[in-house]
Amino acid sequence: MARIPLVVGNWKMHTTVAEARALAAAITRSVLPAGVELAVCPPFTALADVARILEGSAVGLGAQDMFWEVAGAFTGEVSPVMLADLGCRYVIVGHSERRQHFGETDESVARKARAAFVHKLTPIVCVGERLEERDARQTERVITRQVEAATAGLSAEQLAHLVLAYEPVWAIGTGRAATGPEANRVIGLIRTVLAAHDSAASKHTRILYGGSVTADNVAEFSQQPEIDGALVGGASLDARKFLAIISGYARRTLA
Ligand code: 13P
Repeated sequence: MARIPLVVGNWKMHTTVAEARALAAAITRSVLPAGVELAVCPPFTALADVARILEGSAVGLGAQDMFWEVAGAFTGEVSPVMLADLGCRYVIVGHSERRQHFGETDESVARKARAAFVHKLTPIVCVGERLEERDARQTERVITRQVEAATAGLSAEQLAHLVLAYEPVWAIGTGRAATGPEANRVIGLIRTVLAAHDSAASKHTRILYGGSVTADNVAEFSQQPEIDGALVGGASLDARKFLAIISGYARRTLA
């Protein structure tokens, strides 16, 4: 089953509009390798400007979060309709930073994932265990719970189009990435959980690894058969480093 690799830059709470425009322009000016799909997820404030820069390029646009309602009295929230209107193709849902700091739950992640599909956005659902859970050998239990909750109620077709990202919390922004085999093993487990819903669809679902991915360690992950790409934080804020990570996945396609 050939799944096209996907590399996504999560800019988190970085970049003014001017900085975001410059970063997006630097990425689109580069020669992008074939065989890899790309997306960047700027902060909400820069989405409209970055959308214009990405127009006609191979780089997709994504948001970092959204609410599940279409419109209404929800001060401070952004709806899937608003994101689709700006040209977003993707939306990150359930990032561990949102689970940790902003009260995101398995239930809200599931509602957001379902709402994204209704509005033709591809959710990139993040799962991952915390350090204390890993130390207590709870990784499989936590990941299984998060994946089952997030995919509850999705159709087989939606499951096939879903993107998941395994981001162990202890590896995010720490410089301490998981090893390739470790990430491959957990992502294999995620696919087994998906297969229990729909075996055929689970073969199409792309599952990324995220957590301190850099140009130097990308080969560690891109060589693993279960890992279908990367969700990149820090290194995606530098066009040259982001491009090097993308090239790492392009080499796998050509191999
Ligand atoms: P870093 O690549 O900075 O570790 O961040 C990973 C991440 O959280 C991407 O969503």
